Amino acid sequence: MSTKPTLLTEPFLQLPTESSVRVVWFTDFAGSRHTVTYGAELSRKAIAHTTQLSRTREDAASKLAKKYSGLTVRPIWRHEAEVTGLKPDQPAPYQVTSVREDGMAVSSETYTLAAKPSPGKPLKILLTSDHQIKPLVAANLQKVVETIGQVDLVLFAGDLVNVADRASEWFDDECGGSLFPALQGRACYELEKNGIKTRYKGGAIIQNAPMYTAIGNHEVMGRFSTKESLNEQFYNTVPHNVGEGSFYDAVLNASRSADPIATDKELVAKRKEWVKDHSFNTDTYEEIFTLPQSPQGGKRYYAETFGDMRLVVLYITNVWRTPSLAADAKGKYQERDQDIKDTHARENWGWGQHLFEPIAKGSPQHNWLEQELNSPTFKQAKYKLVMFHHPPHSLGENIVPAYTDPVQIMATEEVAVKPDASRRFASLGNQPPAPIDPSKPLKETVIKGIHYEYPKQDDYIIRDVVPLLEKANVQLVLYGHSHLWNRFMSPSGMHFLETSNVGNSYGAFVGDRKRNVPTGYKEEYAATGNPNGLKPIVPTIAPLLDAKKQPMPYIASNDITAFSIFDTGTGSISSYRFDIREPKSAVIKFDEFKLKP
Ligand SMILES: [Fe+2]
Repeated sequence: MSTKPTLLTEPFLQLPTESSVRVVWFTDFAGSRHTVTYGAELSRKAIAHTTQLSRTREDAASKLAKKYSGLTVRPIWRHEAEVTGLKPDQPAPYQVTSVREDGMAVSSETYTLAAKPSPGKPLKILLTSDHQIKPLVAANLQKVVETIGQVDLVLFAGDLVNVADRASEWFDDECGGSLFPALQGRACYELEKNGIKTRYKGGAIIQNAPMYTAIGNHEVMGRFSTKESLNEQFYNTVPHNVGEGSFYDAVLNASRSADPIATDKELVAKRKEWVKDHSFNTDTYEEIFTLPQSPQGGKRYYAETFGDMRLVVLYITNVWRTPSLAADAKGKYQERDQDIKDTHARENWGWGQHLFEPIAKGSPQHNWLEQELNSPTFKQAKYKLVMFHHPPHSLGENIVPAYTDPVQIMATEEVAVKPDASRRFASLGNQPPAPIDPSKPLKETVIKGIHYEYPKQDDYIIRDVVPLLEKANVQLVLYGHSHLWNRFMSPSGMHFLETSNVGNSYGAFVGDRKRNVPTGYKEEYAATGNPNGLKPIVPTIAPLLDAKKQPMPYIASNDITAFSIFDTGTGSISSYRFDIREPKSAVIKFDEFKLKP
């Protein structure tokens, strides 16, 4: 411990109120005396509360100078101090200091904090998503600051990292493009195009401006394991009720009497933990960020007022699975052959692209949304924005299949088998074993195939969410997930913006470029275009042109990165692009539209 201590992140701002704001930072030592000094001459002090992240780990796929041969817990400490007594629109300087166990101290640079802005104050809000340590992110954020200066707020529509429990993706991936360095101007990402190397450092943004985030599919980890790789744990999600089923099978069968679940508090808590460990969780994401909360959804979905804006953030995201129909593909549309034939393979099913949080009409989240949209606070807000991860309208890949619970279709066959007791727990393994009569041939139901359909008329976003938002006069719906820029407008004037062509693109599916969709399924899965009807809008100022010199209604590029700014002074949303092949070229404003008052 002779080297000087360093902070794992610079401090950043969270959860501002009318008179306070939280300052959060991370270290890789527990230390002590973690403090924020602030105000004139940094004369005031706030003491931080320190917690350790419970699930951060590294593994062989981590990109760090220190190599990890296998899954390893990575201890990281989070410090949060609440700075109080602030007045709106009166920013104050601040700095954080942490003291390591050996008594050596480390301080951040000095930044600026503030309480929430007062209504009517013009604000510049960065709209972004899908960073995922992708190549162009640091360049993108650097250009934000060079073009706009300091923004007042960041709205991040999900997918901050790739694998939420891999610490280095948040803090110190050796490629230099982790989430915090890129958003704090401390990245070091080298891009090489046409033989020219350029290093980008990102933008010093969230030290001086708070950020509200939505959960994307990449913030969700699957079944917890102390052995499997982090990538495997990320993909190994199952719906909550499947995890719950395993709790009943494994823990309760031996001991439960009539119904201890409802009465035994301890068992309820144990069950909740069990289900989380055996299905999916957002623990690391929730431990990193301090966000507004709703009574029903906690920080997973919430609403907040910032200046003239009322923002509603929803938990609308599902697991991503491959569209492949290969025999070994645990995919959107099918289970793997090996998981069908194996007697115990139900454990390994992926359950298609299952959702993480219900949003259909009647669900707690939908009920809460209805309530929020009907509240006086929402109705009286000048600007009404809704942010979530999954696209309602898009030319991208991930708009297909529909956002709904997968409908499992199982092809089965009755086969005669020898009366062998070991076969009683057959492929439909959760059914009670039938009594065996050794004199009679035994029949067994065998699964021949499992596939999943996603009925388009049951798309919950289109069926149950968008009509509510229209009725409530929402002006803008912000989302991501497909890594492109495109926008849409409903006949009533509600805008939809996917501004996720930040790091690298998954393409726009128009003309000859077709999505990988199955044929021979009951439902039709759109290979091109926006399956939900609205036409993409050609950028109003400087659209990119296609090979025939026609303007394109999207940006889906690995050479051109885009970002968008909401200016609450004018009510306009402006989008900008930067061509990384021309490092000295200017940032181009290519689109602008106004929210209807
Ligand atoms: Fe995503």
